[in-house]
Amino acid sequence: MSEAEILVIKNVTKKFGGLVAVNNESFKVREGEILGLIGPNGAGKTTLFRVIAGIYKPESGRIIFKGKDITGKPAHQVARMGIALTHQIVRPFGDLSVLENVMVGALYGKLAGKIGVSEAIDIAIEKLKFVGLYHKADELASKLTLREKKALELARALAAQPDLLLLDEALAGLNPREVDENLRLIRRVKEEMGLTIIMVEHVMHAVMNIAERLIVLHYGEKIAEGPPEAIANNVRDLEYDKSVNIKTIPIAIGRDRALSLLMTLLILPYIITFILVIINILTPLTLMTLATITEVYNVIRRFKITIPEDADPQVVRVALHYGLLLIAAMIIGDILGL
Ligand SMILES: Nc1ncnc2c1ncn2[C@@H]1O[C@H](COP(=O)(O)OP(=O)(O)OP(=O)(O)O)[C@@H](O)[C@H]1O
Ligand SMILES: [Mg+2]
Repeated sequence: MSEAEILVIKNVTKKFGGLVAVNNESFKVREGEILGLIGPNGAGKTTLFRVIAGIYKPESGRIIFKGKDITGKPAHQVARMGIALTHQIVRPFGDLSVLENVMVGALYGKLAGKIGVSEAIDIAIEKLKFVGLYHKADELASKLTLREKKALELARALAAQPDLLLLDEALAGLNPREVDENLRLIRRVKEEMGLTIIMVEHVMHAVMNIAERLIVLHYGEKIAEGPPEAIANNVRDLEYDKSVNIKTIPIAIGRDRALSLLMTLLILPYIITFILVIINILTPLTLMTLATITEVYNVIRRFKITIPEDADPQVVRVALHYGLLLIAAMIIGDILGL
């Protein structure tokens, strides 16, 4: 291994039952670089991060960190060795204060067992100041906004004093101003703390802007690797390759393939309903059809749907589909005169 390489991924495969989430993946990360990991929903980005962080054990392959084989080591040991992960779905300990959440990072990170509570407090304060959240140190973590929870997640990871930081969609759900602020923060993490960063990101202009190198994953496999400009050109080429739907890359919501199949099945009744409604309109345009449309319109108006900003996108999608299914059932009921 060259001295400049902090992480080497060699032929790593991770399966969930029959599903190959990460397929024989290999790449190297240079010390001090910002590497972007992009790819459509379900490409295996989060799974790969979790394998590196020791949350999942790979079926095969090796992970070498700072020259040491860390394959299969449990998460707490990997954290002590200097790898910290921020989670895609941010779930801080809601009953703990913001400061206490960050202290957990310090106490279970690289300095675990070497520092006491007072040092952990000092580290937590320093990291909270760095991410601009110190003024909320005593608040309950559950009270924070999504942007603040993301900042807390970064502070907690930094408090672990890692050498390698894995950022899983740290910019998702933020507005353009917040994205810019966080990009500046990530640059400072590299420049002031000297960390190596791998970031999974769907906010394409951001990752193109900050990453020195990009890796594109698709169905668990690496399909492209190189500087952002080269990848941008490749992406244009790949758009002509029907087997790779690269256009789905910027979609910033979680999805799993089984759920997609279920959704397709759920959508089927709408299509049948749509055909029935068209037949109904094209044959004599009955008052019944008009009444159905009015009814549906009223239902839509009556429902005030609010989505919490940190809601799990998959749960939101399922809820919306069930809502639409209910409306479709009403239309079918009306048409059949039930
Ligand atoms: N714990 C799990 N059990 C079973 N299947 C899983 C599990 N975690 C992920 N998967 C599946 O593995 C595949 C890769 O998922 P993963 O979350 O790694 O994708 P991703 O690239 O991070 O997607 P996204 O951009 O939506 O976050 C998906 O098909 C997903 O359904
Ligand atoms: Mg993911």
